[in-house]
Amino acid sequence: MAGISICNLGEDYSWGSRVEGVNWDNLYDDQLRTDLRELFDDRGFIIFEGMEPSPKMQVELSKVFGPLKDHPTKSTARADRDLDPGIIDMQHIRTADQTYTNGLTEVGGKKVISFLPWHFDHTYNDELNYAGVLRAVVYAPEDGRTGFADGIELYNALDPKLIRKIEDLNVLYTLDVRLTQQRFGRYFETFGDTEDSAGLIAEAATFPRSIHPMIWTRPGGEKVVHYCGFSAVGIEDHEDPEGEALFEEALEEMHKHINPYWHDWKPTDMLIWDNLRLLHAVEGCDPKYERRMHRTTIRGDYGLGSFEDGKKIGEVQREVAPLDLPA
Ligand SMILES: [Fe+2]
Repeated sequence: MAGISICNLGEDYSWGSRVEGVNWDNLYDDQLRTDLRELFDDRGFIIFEGMEPSPKMQVELSKVFGPLKDHPTKSTARADRDLDPGIIDMQHIRTADQTYTNGLTEVGGKKVISFLPWHFDHTYNDELNYAGVLRAVVYAPEDGRTGFADGIELYNALDPKLIRKIEDLNVLYTLDVRLTQQRFGRYFETFGDTEDSAGLIAEAATFPRSIHPMIWTRPGGEKVVHYCGFSAVGIEDHEDPEGEALFEEALEEMHKHINPYWHDWKPTDMLIWDNLRLLHAVEGCDPKYERRMHRTTIRGDYGLGSFEDGKKIGEVQREVAPLDLPA
């Protein structure tokens, strides 16, 4: 690729690449766009370094990999309504008195804000998104890293005996993604919901539960481990003590064998990950720091998810009025 440098993520990883040199002069080059799509399909994760840190560049880079789609929930804030279909806005702002209880999480002995356990995006929906491009608008000077882990590598790392037990099973997920409600795979403590949970709770009441496979096979034949405790309510047709114990075992094994890459943010970084293949997480940061992330949502699904009631997403009742979201 002319003018572009590419290297592997690192010697500890069988996936992921770093790309430097994408700019307005070459972004619309057809060959470059094809090469980037092929690289992404192969490696599942790209760190674009030295990018112009603007929402417009983030949207245009995203479109290399597919059309954008709007986020499936109304209660998720949008960064800029003029950028159709937009960028979602994930923000933690310091409060004046810095007395945090809501949304605070304790993980690894640290009390942090903005923590998210291992998950894939849109667990609660029947349709997943292919990918997202993530950018740190404001990040903490320490911690607050975003973690990524490859589901293909994880499949090869898990005990084949466990794989045999779970490979044909599906997990049920709910839109109520509050960490206080997480039942399975907890490796953290919570101290109350975030202040903005009311809209989520109301919208969750109108959503059926979604169903996704624990392991799926890519068109090229690679098996992908693709389950998480985040927003999970159990194993389909096994919402019983035996099923719950198996799910806990599967999550424990996953947390034991996961090989994460943790990204230290720079303002000029843009990251894209294959949401049908990788899991991701946020380690959280000291509540005294502000943190603001912008993410696009790129259309493209594996077609294996469904809603428990058999409805498709367009038929799901949306009885909640849009929230007054920050601009
Ligand atoms: Fe996420």
